[in-house]
Amino acid sequence: MEKTLRIKSILTEKPVNQDICVQGWLKSKRDSKGLSFLDVTDGSSLTGLQVIADESLANYHTDIAQLSTGCSIVARGQLVASPAKGQEVELHAREITVYGWAQPETYPLQKKRHSFEFLRSVAHLRGRTNSLGAVARIRSRLSWAIHQFFQQRGFFQVHTPVITTSDCEGAGEMFTVTSFDLQKLPRTAGAVDFSQDFFGRPASLTVSGQLEAEAYALALGNVYTFGPTFRAENSNTSRHLAEFWMLEPEMAFCDLEGDMDLAEELLKFLISDCLENCAEDMDLFARFIDKTLMAKLDNVLKHEFVRISYSDAVKELEKSGRSFAFPVAWGIDLQSEHERYLAETLFQRPVIVTDYPKTIKPFYMRVNDDNKTVAAMDILFPGIGEIIGGSQREERLEQLTARMVEAGIALENYQWYLDLRRFGTVPHAGFGLGFERIIQFVTGMGNIRDVIAFPRTPGSTAV
Ligand code: 4AD
Ligand code: MG
Repeated sequence: MEKTLRIKSILTEKPVNQDICVQGWLKSKRDSKGLSFLDVTDGSSLTGLQVIADESLANYHTDIAQLSTGCSIVARGQLVASPAKGQEVELHAREITVYGWAQPETYPLQKKRHSFEFLRSVAHLRGRTNSLGAVARIRSRLSWAIHQFFQQRGFFQVHTPVITTSDCEGAGEMFTVTSFDLQKLPRTAGAVDFSQDFFGRPASLTVSGQLEAEAYALALGNVYTFGPTFRAENSNTSRHLAEFWMLEPEMAFCDLEGDMDLAEELLKFLISDCLENCAEDMDLFARFIDKTLMAKLDNVLKHEFVRISYSDAVKELEKSGRSFAFPVAWGIDLQSEHERYLAETLFQRPVIVTDYPKTIKPFYMRVNDDNKTVAAMDILFPGIGEIIGGSQREERLEQLTARMVEAGIALENYQWYLDLRRFGTVPHAGFGLGFERIIQFVTGMGNIRDVIAFPRTPGSTAV
């Protein structure tokens, strides 16, 4: 019996003169005088396997001649060294069976270039294209690399809940979770009575697992949570999703400095890991998506990130001589045009901006001695903008309570969070990495909708 092999291992191990079996989908077919050259892919690698079928096959005229892009087949035969250019090995088929047809009149992915916009309309099929398949493999690798990075360093993964009753970022961008019949909302004195809802109070999809991760950092030391997060922010940009994945490490006995060090090390690790382990897919992006990709990645790897305080960054922006659409003044939130100026024009490499005004940052960030700024850090990447947001957390009960009152947060909902400061509080810090944004940076893909399998954005959930 021949062995069923994945094409990636056939192309690396090249078991020539052996009988093998491959299963996959037809990328293209070329016919020439009683011979057909089939380019077959099984998703394991970008390059497919050339399968040669000739008239001696019993079903050559009935099946093979009818094959078209997208059909699924199983091919058995001998792997041989290829005499022709373009591939080192090829499979001489002894038998080919068709699993499923894909009618050329209706199959949307005929062999030609398709726009990413069009591919979004067939999100359920687009993983079969070269570029979206490569994105999916790189995404999987990066996810694995994240676990590897943290597990090697003694961090524990915590599965934080998707349904929460806290608004970590305080931005009010939550999707409500309810079992109410929306046509018949129970009301008490006009207001919706959430005490009758499933959880007995308003609940929503999480915008961040940080608060819960903090609880476990104060138990296990170093932890990370990595999963889907949800934000009902109405930003239809190439950098925002309503459902995205976030990695959030949290470290006890750690300050802002240690937080930045870890973040920089992680980002460099992820980029190197991809270059090393996804070379073939990376080459596709470097050739067809962004010709400057390799130089951009190299630029991140070989430089230390710039570290600059918010106050100094504002000074740099003020003396830039640029007329920004959003005028710069101490106290404003940095807009993408400001972030781009810093990372792309002024420093031309990743920039970590620290110590933002407390008025523009969430309640949990540690207040600095000046009582005006907090121990926050945002990492800005050229071409991406903010890729990481993090901070040292306010570990002092009194200061934290004061900040929460200032922010108008209902303390009764956060007693558990305050307990972490009441009982054995320690300095601690963490950050959130937007998973899709690092994938965008690594691949050079321009639109965040193309680095997640099934994007969710305002007004759109196709598939
Ligand atoms: O800066 P953010 O809002 O930080 C937090 O949520 C903290 N709780 C993290 C922490 O300290 N544990 O989000 C972190 C990162 C951003 O820098 C960005 O990369 C990404 O998450 N992000 C988004 N990615 C895609 N779509 C969106 N709508 C995003 N919002 C944030
Ligand atoms: Mg942020």
